[in-house]
Amino acid sequence: MTTDILPDRAAVLAALNRVVDPRGGQGLADAGLVQGLTLGAGRAGFMLEVDPAQTALYAPVRDAAEKALAALPGVEKAQVVLTAAAQPVAPGVTRLRKGSAQVAMDPRADTHGMPPAVRLEHVRRVIAVASGKGGVGKSTVSVNLACAFAASGLKVGLLDADIYGPSAPKMLGLDSQPEFVDGKLNPLRAWGLKVMSIGFIVDEASPMIWRGPMASSALRQMIQDVRWGTASDELDVLVVDLPPGTGDVHLTLVQKLAVDGVVIVSTPQEIALIDARRASAMFGKMNPPVPILGVIENMAWFADPATGARIPIFGEGGARREAERLGAAFLGEIPIEIALRQGGDEGRPLVATSPDSAAAQTFGAIARELAKGF
Ligand SMILES: Nc1ncnc2c1ncn2[C@@H]1O[C@H](COP(=O)(O)OP(=O)(O)OP(=O)(O)O)[C@@H](O)[C@H]1O
Ligand SMILES: [Mg+2]
Repeated sequence: MTTDILPDRAAVLAALNRVVDPRGGQGLADAGLVQGLTLGAGRAGFMLEVDPAQTALYAPVRDAAEKALAALPGVEKAQVVLTAAAQPVAPGVTRLRKGSAQVAMDPRADTHGMPPAVRLEHVRRVIAVASGKGGVGKSTVSVNLACAFAASGLKVGLLDADIYGPSAPKMLGLDSQPEFVDGKLNPLRAWGLKVMSIGFIVDEASPMIWRGPMASSALRQMIQDVRWGTASDELDVLVVDLPPGTGDVHLTLVQKLAVDGVVIVSTPQEIALIDARRASAMFGKMNPPVPILGVIENMAWFADPATGARIPIFGEGGARREAERLGAAFLGEIPIEIALRQGGDEGRPLVATSPDSAAAQTFGAIARELAKGF
């Protein structure tokens, strides 16, 4: 059973400062090596971004940092991902990858030592699905919203950006590996979607494989080197399923990718709302700020099997009020539907298999509302 307690941020940073950067002799946090710190229920993780020539030097540091995190109260799962950082090639300019465009570095955009976000090639619009709290249904919403966009005739991609617990392979019933062709990864296809997930590349059951430098570069490739479309066949919309997190920069990934807008998922419970507020504040702080496209209330009610009456298990109207407070649109309420969970468990998204169900209809309406802004 996973704990609901969030690890304490100050304690996490203090613990990471007790692990020493072999180059500068400072603690990891003070050395600025703790990127994208993610604190979720029972989990803590971050990216250790180092010079590509020094990944071997930092591998033991990564292990020590992971051990330090795992020893903290409230941390059941610790994950430190060692990645090779982009190298500055001239003042103010960063070369992201061989062959990719050079991107001017705006110092204001670079609040965490990260290169500015890059626009994905041949993708018209990127919508991220976020929440602060875990388990509120981001992945369920991402998958079904993507299917609803596809049902309306759009060309749709789904990027499962949850490196800690990828959902797309299971929720879409995919277990093959993407092919690497002409320097780019071809996304897998399912239910009319193009799909990419770290879960296709990294075996969750084998963390040692995940830790290898190949996995780190795979993560980078998942953002930068996926063939979502071509000049003559552009993707209309890419839905990005984000990992849970309440840190102010919850994942390096999020910063690397230019996002046009974010959809916040929340259950009606106050605790979930507080986290949704934090998540929306985080997107507002990004440079440039990422607009909140709206709030979706998930698990809004359960229909009494005998009478069909709505039973608001988690309270009523909370997400609607929260949307008003954020000045964001209230996009809709998704009921608790057993078929929605079953569809997720069986790799058969409800929107694709039962388009007439109440939840599928709501996803359709939300997709139409969002598509007005395309
Ligand atoms: N409206 C719903 N009705 C029934 N079950 C739901 C609903 N929304 C989500 N679930 C179920 O709740 C569980 C958590 O949902 P999901 O994995 O989508 O959440 P998440 O926010 O992506 O979680 P995480 O934070 O771990 O990424 C899953 O078993 C899913 O099938
Ligand atoms: Mg998820």
